[in-house]
Amino acid sequence: MSLKTKYVCSNCGFESGKWYGRCPDCSSWNSLSEVLVEEKRNKASLDLASKTEPQVLSKIKSAREERMSSGFDEFDRVMGGAGEKMGIVPGSVVLLSGDPGVGKSTLLLEVAINVASRSTNSEQRKANRKVLYITGEESESQIKLRAERLDSQISNDSIFIFSTSDIESAISACEKLKPDLVIVDSIQTMASTAFPGFPGSVPQIRHATSRVVSFSKKTGTPVFIVGHVTKEGIVAGPMILSHMVDVVLYLEGENLTGTRILRAFKNRFGDTSEVGIFTMEENGLAEIKNPSDFFTGKTGKAVPGSCLSVVMEGTRPIIVEIQALVIPSNLSFPRRVSNGIPDKRLELLLAVIQKHCRLPLDRMDVFVNVVGGLKITETSSDLAVALATISSFKNKALKSAVALAEVGILGELKEVINQKARVKEAKKLGFKNILISENSRFLNDVIKKI
Ligand code: TYD
Ligand code: MG
Repeated sequence: MSLKTKYVCSNCGFESGKWYGRCPDCSSWNSLSEVLVEEKRNKASLDLASKTEPQVLSKIKSAREERMSSGFDEFDRVMGGAGEKMGIVPGSVVLLSGDPGVGKSTLLLEVAINVASRSTNSEQRKANRKVLYITGEESESQIKLRAERLDSQISNDSIFIFSTSDIESAISACEKLKPDLVIVDSIQTMASTAFPGFPGSVPQIRHATSRVVSFSKKTGTPVFIVGHVTKEGIVAGPMILSHMVDVVLYLEGENLTGTRILRAFKNRFGDTSEVGIFTMEENGLAEIKNPSDFFTGKTGKAVPGSCLSVVMEGTRPIIVEIQALVIPSNLSFPRRVSNGIPDKRLELLLAVIQKHCRLPLDRMDVFVNVVGGLKITETSSDLAVALATISSFKNKALKSAVALAEVGILGELKEVINQKARVKEAKKLGFKNILISENSRFLNDVIKKI
């Protein structure tokens, strides 16, 4: 086996025989680093399957029926599948990334506990499912502490913790134990002494991931890999990680609020628009089964500065409350602070209100917040943001209104996508005062009505 030098972009995975200061593919600077690769180990020889010959498609067993539940409906929904058959696909490699401290290890340990507390489907072996948690970040006793916090009575003997950062001994432990689920926390801490580079470097991550992927595909064992994220929000080290795995999940949330949203960015087995919603509690992450209840503040009575809207998270409509506070400013550049909606969108809406509704917002500080820490990226809540702002300015409460429209720069209202589903959700929760573009053509018309 001969070794060959290559240069790999840590951002996009671009490969080249010579070094560039700037990656020709993704244009990032200084991202190419030297990697020694075995001549014969190229992408095509990534030992994916146990078979050495082509197989007849119609004879190949489908993995659809064998999805394994993670024990969380919210998690299974993101993993994909339909109805009863949602969850983790055998032989799949799932990358879970997210900011430090967001709860990746907690989530996966909870999944491990859930999976291990269920027995296998097979008739011969009615034992509990075995889970192997490989950690290069924490010691066994730290994991034990965390596990006790999550579930004070772990009584079964089917969760195994292996604290190592050597990928070769991790893989041999997997081969020996034959677990039903493997968790590698995190891929950046895994390294092989037979390979150049320090843990977390491109060649090491690449090598460790390919070892994990080939183990998973050969044995049909699903594997979760934790991957850290750099400040720029990309999966640290190489994006090549995401090319090598089947599913890329992202756990997002802010430290201030307990809300955590699990999204799929790539999913070979499901829809990437689905999200799972959790909240970080004292004893781990808990599912939010009824998000519409969760994202509306419980003020009890109508208060000035609040308006409801419905956002779509995947295929699910969720009612959110938008709050605004408008106060006179003594600054020459009044403050516009928004939490949960893009700054530029807020600026635009304030300009529209000022021009078309003739309200002197240029002399006001405006603060807007989306309750529960949800981030709204669509324009369907424009009307709700505008109405909350106007309501606060006029110090007049809206009577539990749900507003659903995009506001254009001429102050006109536009229909939003999936309007029917959204209206249905609002009605389901008992809201009657639903403001949509069909009833009023301009923002001004709505204001006259409320
Ligand atoms: P962790 O899973 O260690 O994050 P990551 O692996 O993504 O870096 O989560 C750490 C945070 O979660 C920490 O700030 C404490 C908090 N936490 C809880 O609030 N409740 C809990 O039950 C646990 C285990 C952690
Ligand atoms: Mg962790």
